[in-house]
Amino acid sequence: MATQLTLNNSTKLYEQALELIPGAILGIRRPYNFVPGEYPIFFDHAKGGKVVDVDGNEYIDMLCAYGPIIIGHREEEIDNAVIEQIKNKGFCMSLTQEVQNTLANKMQQLIPSCQKSVFVKTGSDATSAAIRIARGYTKRKKIIRCGYHGWHDWCIEVKGGIPTKLYEDVYEFSYNNLNQLERLMNEHSHDVAAIIITPLGHPLAQPVEMPEPNFLETVRQISEHYGALLVFDEVRSGFRVGLGGAQKEFGITPDLSVFGKAMGNGYPISAVVGKAEIMDVLKSEVYLSSTFFPNSLEQIAALKTIEIIERDDVLGDIKNKGEIFAEQVSKVIANSKVNCTFSGGPWMPYITFNKDDLNKYKELRASFYTKLIRRKVFLQPYHHGYIAYRHTSEDLKYVAEMIEESLKELEKDL
Ligand SMILES: Cc1ncc(COP(=O)(O)O)c(C=O)c1O
Repeated sequence: MATQLTLNNSTKLYEQALELIPGAILGIRRPYNFVPGEYPIFFDHAKGGKVVDVDGNEYIDMLCAYGPIIIGHREEEIDNAVIEQIKNKGFCMSLTQEVQNTLANKMQQLIPSCQKSVFVKTGSDATSAAIRIARGYTKRKKIIRCGYHGWHDWCIEVKGGIPTKLYEDVYEFSYNNLNQLERLMNEHSHDVAAIIITPLGHPLAQPVEMPEPNFLETVRQISEHYGALLVFDEVRSGFRVGLGGAQKEFGITPDLSVFGKAMGNGYPISAVVGKAEIMDVLKSEVYLSSTFFPNSLEQIAALKTIEIIERDDVLGDIKNKGEIFAEQVSKVIANSKVNCTFSGGPWMPYITFNKDDLNKYKELRASFYTKLIRRKVFLQPYHHGYIAYRHTSEDLKYVAEMIEESLKELEKDL
């Protein structure tokens, strides 16, 4: 039996933060999103594929900062490129620096849907900009969405503080559910500006879904049939599933797409890319600007990240390691009596607990993730994980073994 972690410093910092910050921490990083009392609340430092909390416990980081860490934490080549820019040029000026064009050129070479790009900072910036571009271009107002697209008024689930009129023209359908989509398109037909969808399905606390045969192809056809734009939200899949995005892997080219997270290996950068004719509404009709959007440090980081991904076949390596890991964990789960599911391989591994009439699955989930964190594997109970280039084969073998040990211990408790 693995013993409970010492988390005194985390607890102290949390109590201090409760007095300073509403809820101590924002959103998904709050303790209730893990197992309260068992997971650390504050990290101190990270390197490669590992993180260390403020009590000195070291974990294999299978959450990768919720997606940005594609290569590894504190990747020296990237950090050095950024430091050089700080020391030699600066990064926050009244006019734009040349690196904008270099990065836009790279995006155009790599991403099938990209003729032009704009760079912003967060995934929410980029999805919201894409929606505004789509509405500006089509002169229509309705949006059909599938997946999490960020915290802005038009798409966030928690509606507190948001007037109804700001999201009343937005309708949601479930991933792989073409009937729902067709019904919505029929109903709102020629007033739909865009269908925005994540190329892989990753609903919160539910298994990750790959596209069923012809799903994305049919979504593309439906959008064309109704004259609505198709927007791929590649914030999680971009620079992870493939260098050209999931769109290149799956062979479907949307009109617009959105990137973020892994694009800068942790530096805050995101992008909207698309057909020139559509993107050109940003020339005058549609407005997009912010003090920090043109800052160049993140652009430098993104260029270096992309250079390393290409040079070292980072995504090929992640896919290979992820496939081996997925196979190991799938076998463990198939041989276990615990009612759980593995999904998301090779890119977004996740263990979810199947619902039962007595709601026992919630207890099982908390118990399993408790056993796992005590074994120094940092995975989230309500969100899939990620694999980084710096995770070694030994790291992933260890994680698979700890999943097996935890499930075996859980079986004994059943
Ligand atoms: C698919 C997707 N789109 C958009 C967002 C919003 O990105 P951000 O949190 O950087 O604003 C996220 C964040 O998790 C996401 O997963």
